[in-house]
Amino acid sequence: MIPIVTPLIGDEEARVLAEVLRSGMLAQGERVNEFEQSFSEYCGVQNSVAVSNGTVALDVALKAVGIQQGDEVITPSFTFIATANSVLFQGAKPVFADVDDKTFTINSNDVVEKITAKTKAIIGVHLFGHPFELKAVQEICEDHHLILIEDAAQAHGAEYNGKKVGSFGIGCFSFYPTKNMTTGEGGMITTSSDSIAETCRLLRNHGQGEKYNHITLGYNYRMTDLEAALGIVQLRKLDGFNEKRIKNADYFNEHLTVSGLNLSYKKDGVKHVYHQYAVTIEDDFPLSRDAFMEYLRDNNIGSAVHYPMPVHKQPLYQQMGYTEENVRCPVATAVAKKIVSLPVHPALQEEDLKYIAETINTVP
Ligand SMILES: Cc1ncc(COP(=O)(O)O)c(C=O)c1O
Repeated sequence: MIPIVTPLIGDEEARVLAEVLRSGMLAQGERVNEFEQSFSEYCGVQNSVAVSNGTVALDVALKAVGIQQGDEVITPSFTFIATANSVLFQGAKPVFADVDDKTFTINSNDVVEKITAKTKAIIGVHLFGHPFELKAVQEICEDHHLILIEDAAQAHGAEYNGKKVGSFGIGCFSFYPTKNMTTGEGGMITTSSDSIAETCRLLRNHGQGEKYNHITLGYNYRMTDLEAALGIVQLRKLDGFNEKRIKNADYFNEHLTVSGLNLSYKKDGVKHVYHQYAVTIEDDFPLSRDAFMEYLRDNNIGSAVHYPMPVHKQPLYQQMGYTEENVRCPVATAVAKKIVSLPVHPALQEEDLKYIAETINTVP
């Protein structure tokens, strides 16, 4: 079976993990500092704050900028649920904006429609590794005095007009094993504001300033040195991983010729790092999505649906009173019905790409 995802962990990762184990310094320590510094240099930001996962990165970032009950935060409806849930964790209200029908990232025109007097922040998501419309969203934030959060969980190394994502607003990354680089579990907040970084550092460690002097309510959201040691090595490999993903996507763009399949799209001026290679099944495709995925499975090719429903249709959100009518995100709802991800990860070999393309082009 060609899997939909495979983390690439090599001998170097095993060696550095063994070193940390032997050192006996297992929790947050020097490796975390080193990982944070390398990540800041890579993204071109002043500060990086390592945390225990990407959900925590979003949660801590929103807390650090003071989002609270009564506030509204605009997020796309087509994303992983953690993006919107991070707003709920503050007692605030997620307000859903629709997405672009080609990039599946937040639609800036709809963002403007959804702004109210209560809006405090916008979380854009660089979905599948494609940067969202940063220029337009940044301008909206400036005009309306809103905070810009970039959910970059799926976009390590992606660029917008030559600048790394995570360096425009407050960046929130995930290092879950399916991501473009991994630490097992892990997350990172990037910001060029020293004061926001300082608050994030307090929040991840029991609100502790000086030892046993707790100046705010914090939690234990720390990353371990084991995870950071993995991250240092994976970050060095990230550009190579991404180049391979881009090459694989280019191959599919060139060789998938079957009609009825809308291939992955990339806007000019962005570096798309293909966390996912997502296609949509159109009406003239010979199979339904389910039948297509079954056909792929029968031919030993993994595929997945990211995501089968927009966040506002999740039971949790339905229980809170979100409906299709009051949310008004028709593109998100339509895309969720027809999207499917094909394998694009860097472990794919030349013959895998050829086999996948041939299998799809000869769909019955
Ligand atoms: C867009 C997005 N945001 C946030 C997260 C949360 O990251 P984590 O799984 O590390 O908590 C993910 C992870 O899948 C994600 O894809």
